[in-house]
Amino acid sequence: TTLPRLYSGMQPSADSLHLGNYIGALLQWKELQSTHDAFFSVVDLHAITVAQDPAELREKTRRTAAQYIAAGIDPSASTLYVQSHVPAHAQLAWILNTITGFGEASRMTQFKDKSAKQGAEATSVGLFAYPVLMAADILLFDAEVVPVGDDQRQHVELTRDLAERFNGRFGPTFVVPQAMILKDSARIYDLQNPESKMSKSAESGAGIIWMLDEPEVTRKKIMRAVTDTDGVVSFDRAGKPGISNLLSIYSALSGRTIESIEVEYEGKGYGDFKKGLVEVVVEEFAPVRKRALDLLADPGELDRILATNAQRASEVAEGTLEKAYDRIGL
Ligand code: ADP
Ligand code: NA
Repeated sequence: TTLPRLYSGMQPSADSLHLGNYIGALLQWKELQSTHDAFFSVVDLHAITVAQDPAELREKTRRTAAQYIAAGIDPSASTLYVQSHVPAHAQLAWILNTITGFGEASRMTQFKDKSAKQGAEATSVGLFAYPVLMAADILLFDAEVVPVGDDQRQHVELTRDLAERFNGRFGPTFVVPQAMILKDSARIYDLQNPESKMSKSAESGAGIIWMLDEPEVTRKKIMRAVTDTDGVVSFDRAGKPGISNLLSIYSALSGRTIESIEVEYEGKGYGDFKKGLVEVVVEEFAPVRKRALDLLADPGELDRILATNAQRASEVAEGTLEKAYDRIGL
């Protein structure tokens, strides 16, 4: 039996991934890899749509790949590779650019937000075409399933439109994919600012738990997390965002229900609850951190894994690209 194809990726945009990336993406990818033929990419071509320092980009790409593996993405069960190692991404993106409407691309809200922040002169055409490259990523692998955060829903819609348009004009070529939107309970918020999602682009890092933080740093960040004055460990996203966020984290990492955690901490203070959470987070990340650092200390091994996986990704991608070229007369 062949498993349904799945595609997802993350940009190599920080030295370490954070707890939101781990719970919102990696933990779910890890689950999905046994039921899907999964392709997980470190999307460095996407990263260069905004200015990058070359040496830093190279390093972040390796670190991101190492953290995928450390978090449990198995590079022999899934195909885990670096996007730029597979030239077909850029090649198919060009073709899809030619069937994407300028107005259609202009309606992408993420582009509108980012370009408004940067200003038109600082905004690259690459950033404008970012969603088209993402469509190429997905369509190259005949992916049926695309696990993404809610902010990527519009891009997956565009991917579906482009696949249908191409198939309609040139004959059946691409599988039309489906977005698998992240569960709300898997959304993690900043520990200092629990109304905003945990994000590497936060102004201060004090509310971000990095996967590669030392345990002592993690402990301090959790103990200093913003709560409320009510003193009851109970879930109430609107009224008690700080405690609710900590409960979500506790639940996601321990596999326990929120209710059972509330019961355990009934009549106890936030300090006890936070200490319990420190244990859960440190226990989860200690082996992940060790494995990531081991991989980064052995560059030959990581390179070998990435080369083998890029080869596997290329074989699939080349087949799709060839079909698309043929269809349009190239
Ligand atoms: P960031 O917001 O730090 O820039 P990205 O946008 O690069 O993170 O997201 C990479 C992946 O991690 C995506 O699948 C996204 O849905 C997930 N993710 C990012 N932040 C969070 C969060 N706070 N909670 C849950 N999932 C998240
Ligand atoms: Na982001």
